[in-house]
Amino acid sequence: MDVEGEIKKAADILAGAGNAVASCGAGVSAESGIATFRDPGGVWDKLNPAEVGTTPGLINTLEKNAEKLIPFFIELLEAFEQADPNPAHLALGELEKMAILKTVITQNIDNLHQEAGNTDVIEVHGNGFRLCCVSCGNLQTKPRKELIAEIKSKIHALKDYDLASIATVMPKCDRCGAIMRPDVVMFGEMVKDTDRAFSAANHCDVMLAVGTSGVVYPAAYLPFQAKEAGARVIVVNPNENAFSRVSDAYIPMNAGEAMPKLVETVKKIRAPDTG
Ligand code: APR
Repeated sequence: MDVEGEIKKAADILAGAGNAVASCGAGVSAESGIATFRDPGGVWDKLNPAEVGTTPGLINTLEKNAEKLIPFFIELLEAFEQADPNPAHLALGELEKMAILKTVITQNIDNLHQEAGNTDVIEVHGNGFRLCCVSCGNLQTKPRKELIAEIKSKIHALKDYDLASIATVMPKCDRCGAIMRPDVVMFGEMVKDTDRAFSAANHCDVMLAVGTSGVVYPAAYLPFQAKEAGARVIVVNPNENAFSRVSDAYIPMNAGEAMPKLVETVKKIRAPDTG
């Protein structure tokens, strides 16, 4: 595979874009230290999605086996706490500043696209730092690192791991006093903002599919939808091209290396005389 040739092909496509959309998966945050789900050693290697991927399953598993689960939660919380936007996130922010990229659609809940400067971010699986009251539905967004530090210290202070004690680690609603949960989509729950996501895919001129295995729907449809609507499709993924049927360029690299290279190549194409 001529990787340099694929980067040049992708850059030629992006250099002419004005309404590009990125559809991102966990691979974009891998180089920020947040584990993906399906890579070896990923989240689903350590936790069973059937036990913790749905709300009832998670509650049931916490009730039966909190001792086993809590250390994994702390490990995940710590990864989210130490994470910062990596060069892949920053490159997507740069593409928005260059008026090439309009929207980021993401399956990630880590808030890193917003922190990298993208202003139109469609979070189809929600955001872990936007809390939702389980009773009145009130939404409250908290600074990522602050919220994690608060929850971590409450977990470490727990005397018991019964459900009632575990529930005390989550903040309370400032409207009705009930507990708040992360505003994220668990398996079997309604995916968020799908109309906006599919409209963006239908109207974009380029779809960048970055760091996703393309196995979870409806997000996995987006690159196919974009292609059908006339867009060019660029895929960035070191291990697989789940969209090979529709991709116009495939860069088999880590997003943290590929994306900055792509942006630099686009800049050279757009302003050749700056060398
Ligand atoms: N750069 C780019 N891609 C990477 C990198 C990297 N550094 N490291 C891994 N990848 C790729 C992997 O090759 C894989 O194709 O990222 C992809 C991650 O796939 P998944 O773990 O399946 O993550 P994702 O596609 O986001 O999963 C979708 O599944 O469990 C649900 O809700 C969860 O949002 C998640 C959804």
